[in-house]
Amino acid sequence: MSAQKKTALPAGFEELWKAATAARNHSHSPYSKAKVGAAIRTTDGRVFAGCNVENASYGGTVCAERGAVQTAVAALGKIQLKEVLVITDATPPWPPCGFCRQVIAEFATEETLVHACNTQGECKTLPFSELFPNAFTPTHLEK
Ligand code: THU
Repeated sequence: MSAQKKTALPAGFEELWKAATAARNHSHSPYSKAKVGAAIRTTDGRVFAGCNVENASYGGTVCAERGAVQTAVAALGKIQLKEVLVITDATPPWPPCGFCRQVIAEFATEETLVHACNTQGECKTLPFSELFPNAFTPTHLEK
């Protein structure tokens, strides 16, 4: 992963950053105390956000990235992901967990960009194909 500052990132990044940060402020994380926000941009330019929502039955926890994807599908039905941004206060920034990578894979292309950021402004960006190589995707189920 290459480290870069928020100011060096592409146009439209600020919108994604703000959406993820606003959602992060709503994080329900009384157990881990880790506040996570995510925002996705679809290939048709729509932005959706999510935050982690923990549960007293810990396995019921849903990550921020999966929340954002769920919201986008509920709103649009069919989506393709152009970019995903996840933000925590951690150093180094947290990339999407394995479970979230699999969910992102359902709607990603090899070029989908994934930005792992922290509140200090550090971001590490990778194309999805590098973040999650050899992913099991819907194409494997095509007959
Ligand atoms: N978490 C996310 O929201 N996204 C990830 O990709 C990694 C983990 C959340 C789940 C849990 O609420 C907390 O971070 C600690 O694992």
